[in-house]
Amino acid sequence: MTKPIYVLSGPNLNLLGVREPEIYGRETLDDVHARCAARAATLGASVVCRQTNHEGVLIDWVQEARTEASALVLNPAAFGHTSVALLDALKMLSIPIVECHLSNPAARESFRRTTYVSLAATGVISGFGARSYELAVEAAYGLASKSKP
Ligand code: DQA
Repeated sequence: MTKPIYVLSGPNLNLLGVREPEIYGRETLDDVHARCAARAATLGASVVCRQTNHEGVLIDWVQEARTEASALVLNPAAFGHTSVALLDALKMLSIPIVECHLSNPAARESFRRTTYVSLAATGVISGFGARSYELAVEAAYGLASKSKP
């Protein structure tokens, strides 16, 4: 696998560690990205990790992933519940898409139960805290290896 796995995170995840730690944990996003890089390295893969608070920027990166990534791990954060534009961008990808959440949105407020991104995702991993990302990288690697041996 020559292309990296893109690991993209949406709004407010830059404040991981201080943001509602009882829900999202005390690890920072840098810690989470380090976990992803370490997991990828054990698989012989690499990751490109980015975060933005801006919907358009996230869409630009999803479009970039279309040609530059072997797979996409995406924590859309709140945009997952609101953005049809993000869903439309994801629908143009032919690489595996693993939606990832630190918390389990299905067990929270009712407005978190609809996630547009899930309509385009190959699979969803949620509720394992920072480990969700590691598991998502592993799943993305497995799917990408299967689709392009
Ligand atoms: C989240 C869950 C979303 O509902 C929320 O808006 C987030 C984070 C998670 O990782 O658990 O910002 O995606």
